[in-house]
Amino acid sequence: MRQLIYTSVTTNPSGRAQDDCVPILRQAAVRNGLDGITGLLYSQDAEFLQALEGPDDSVADLLASLKADPRHRDLRVLIDRQTDEREFGDWMMVHRERRESVDSFDRRLHGLLLGVSRETAEYFRALVPA
Ligand SMILES: Cc1cc2nc3c(=O)[nH]c(=O)nc-3n(C[C@H](O)[C@H](O)[C@H](O)COP(=O)(O)O)c2cc1C
Repeated sequence: MRQLIYTSVTTNPSGRAQDDCVPILRQAAVRNGLDGITGLLYSQDAEFLQALEGPDDSVADLLASLKADPRHRDLRVLIDRQTDEREFGDWMMVHRERRESVDSFDRRLHGLLLGVSRETAEYFRALVPA
């Protein structure tokens, strides 16, 4: 199983990464389900932070699509490694709902991160207000 965590920056003229999340998540729900990929997509201000876990080939193919996707730029891989188990469990992509308060989402995220390695959690915690 390959685990990939990266950050990128939206190219949306609004400057808000969140503005592209709905169509992205719709695409991801279909393709990730077929390819056995799970993970987390988080957006804050202009930045995306995404964790992906799945079979090596599926993750490699998705990474190629991501690198070619004009909706974001400056894709920076933070973690790229093999894991025995899915640290992010079975969840599909999650993101903050527009109507969900930042506080409520952050509490949810901190709960979800209890199961991941310290190194991984630190990347997320650095981005999310405590
Ligand atoms: C920040 C970001 C995250 C994305 N996450 C996923 C994802 O988890 N799964 C997915 O299938 N596509 C995701 N996409 C969309 C892919 O980049 C790509 O457009 C889509 O998979 C279709 O691939 P294709 O154009 O190579 O057919 C994401 C795009 C962005 C900008």
